[in-house]
Amino acid sequence: REQRIKRQFEALEQANAFFQQQLRHAPQRDRAVNYLKQRGLSGQIAAAFGIGYAPPGWDNLLTHFNDVENATELLEQAGMVIHNEEKQSHYDRFRDRIMFPIRDVRGRVLGFGGRVLGDDKPKYLNSPETPTFHKGRELYGLYEARKHSNHLDRLLIVEGYMDVVSLAQHGIHWSVATLGTATTAQHLERLFKLVPEVIFCFDGDQAGRTAALRALHTTLPVIKDGQEARFLFLPDGEDPDTLVRQEGETAFSERVSQALPLSEFFFKSLTEDADLSSMDGRARFSNTALPLIQAMQPGLLKQMMMDRICEITGLSMEQLGSVIDLHQVTHT
Ligand code: UTP
Ligand code: MN
Ligand code: MN
Ligand code: MN
Ligand code: MN
Repeated sequence: REQRIKRQFEALEQANAFFQQQLRHAPQRDRAVNYLKQRGLSGQIAAAFGIGYAPPGWDNLLTHFNDVENATELLEQAGMVIHNEEKQSHYDRFRDRIMFPIRDVRGRVLGFGGRVLGDDKPKYLNSPETPTFHKGRELYGLYEARKHSNHLDRLLIVEGYMDVVSLAQHGIHWSVATLGTATTAQHLERLFKLVPEVIFCFDGDQAGRTAALRALHTTLPVIKDGQEARFLFLPDGEDPDTLVRQEGETAFSERVSQALPLSEFFFKSLTEDADLSSMDGRARFSNTALPLIQAMQPGLLKQMMMDRICEITGLSMEQLGSVIDLHQVTHT
């Protein structure tokens, strides 16, 4: 098994080298290079992230691996080749796509995200989960961010590959992206081991706002005193890539410095459609907020958020505790 995994990593590294080589030498390279240019990326940034190109065709990668023993099986296990049961044949998963290698913190290639050059669907195709590639654990750009600086003090969490690369192009080398999945507790544990502060910055659309709320709920039970999570909301229709391209590093950094602290986002989102002017509204709000605060790690932030509920309800902690079992508040 060890041996098999080692070969799989070697195959992924070799595939990565092939895609990067194709960006320079494939007959169709101009389209790929122009695409990257048109998105504002320099050759230097593309190289720093190991961006490559999988040319059109069903067997470019397979053919490139001709001399490798059991290549088909190896590539299939690595998620690079698909088995067509009906035709009893194999074909390349990634065809005519810009390739973003996804590395673990040690720099090993675990898989790829591949973007179409036009408007085809799906826009991004990702490597499937394999025994060595778990999307709920890995973060795109983490290896590159750490390589760029060994003194990271915060990390920006964004949605997409292009956001990470484009931010780096504009001098912001401290962002990472989840791999088309929600932010997990595992992601957060990982991040907080590296930096004391994370800033969520999702797209300025409904999906992005929903993702921020989900991230809030994932963060609440894991965050500890000494760690900070903040939330940055972008103007409608913008994502970190489009925004940093428009307004540049300084203006974007200014937004980052004004991101909402977790506690503020928490009370803002929960009070948004609550009527705190009535007792009934305050009771209902508190009934929703209390169990979420109860689930937090013990500490100062938790205590202060509890105090806030006391202020809102006008009840003391003892009174709150005497009316409702704080460990079994019902969620409505
Ligand atoms: P977005 O649709 O916001 O893409 O998806 P983007 O990064 O802004 O793409 P560009 O700017 O058009 O290139 C965000 C992330 O969601 C995942 C990818 O990880 C993507 O980076 N995604 C999106 C997929 O996995 N598949 C898709 O078809 C679309
Ligand atoms: Mn097979
Ligand atoms: Mn989006
Ligand atoms: Mn985008
Ligand atoms: Mn986007």
